[in-house]
Amino acid sequence: MIETLGKMDCTTEYPPGNIMAHLGISLDSLRGLKVLDIGCGLKAGFVKHLRKNGIQAWGIDRLLDVSEVGEYTANAEALEIPDFGMQFDVAIAHFSAFRWGSSFFVDTGIKRGALNQQDYEKNLLYMGYTILNLRKSIKSGGKLIIFPCPNELLSIISDYQFTIEDIPEEPARISTDVDVDFQIYPELKQRLIITMSE
Ligand SMILES: C[S@@+](CC[C@H](N)C(=O)[O-])C[C@H]1O[C@@H](n2cnc3c(N)ncnc32)[C@H](O)[C@@H]1O
Repeated sequence: MIETLGKMDCTTEYPPGNIMAHLGISLDSLRGLKVLDIGCGLKAGFVKHLRKNGIQAWGIDRLLDVSEVGEYTANAEALEIPDFGMQFDVAIAHFSAFRWGSSFFVDTGIKRGALNQQDYEKNLLYMGYTILNLRKSIKSGGKLIIFPCPNELLSIISDYQFTIEDIPEEPARISTDVDVDFQIYPELKQRLIITMSE
């Protein structure tokens, strides 16, 4: 069984405007598309925002309670996306299942004593398998957009077609007691876009 870290799970939900700016998406760019929010948070706030604006959106989170959120969500691990009876055009992961692929989270996790080398390697494996497995849930030519860019994962996904884009605004502050130096952690100003092969 491949596991990921639970002990540093943070469930802060970000405002829809921040999420869209970080991921480089807009309501208009999502019109007519089926969207999956991976690690959508306990209230699935962004999924609700998309639905309120006429976008077909679903969400999964390993901590959410479906009875409190809605049938368009599932309590699930990113590695085991349930069958929603369709494939998605776009899957997004904002500060969620791939954060342990970002050197910022790895470094702060080590500083806090919550991450050791074994956990780190286990997580890389988890995230690598998760991306492989998402091939089942995302259409050919569909996209997986991740923020912050999980830069530690890039060599693992080198067989995929991917691009890294800069975010044209100040990155969001992360609630942490560790100061963020954006020169040292440039991935916090970047998103990763993986295009699923045809
Ligand atoms: C910081 S919150 C972000 C919520 C939302 N994406 C946002 O940006 O507003 C991270 C969420 O990701 C979920 N999460 C983290 N790793 C996950 C995994 N491997 N599978 C499913 N959910 C995960 C956590 O349970 C948590 O609710």
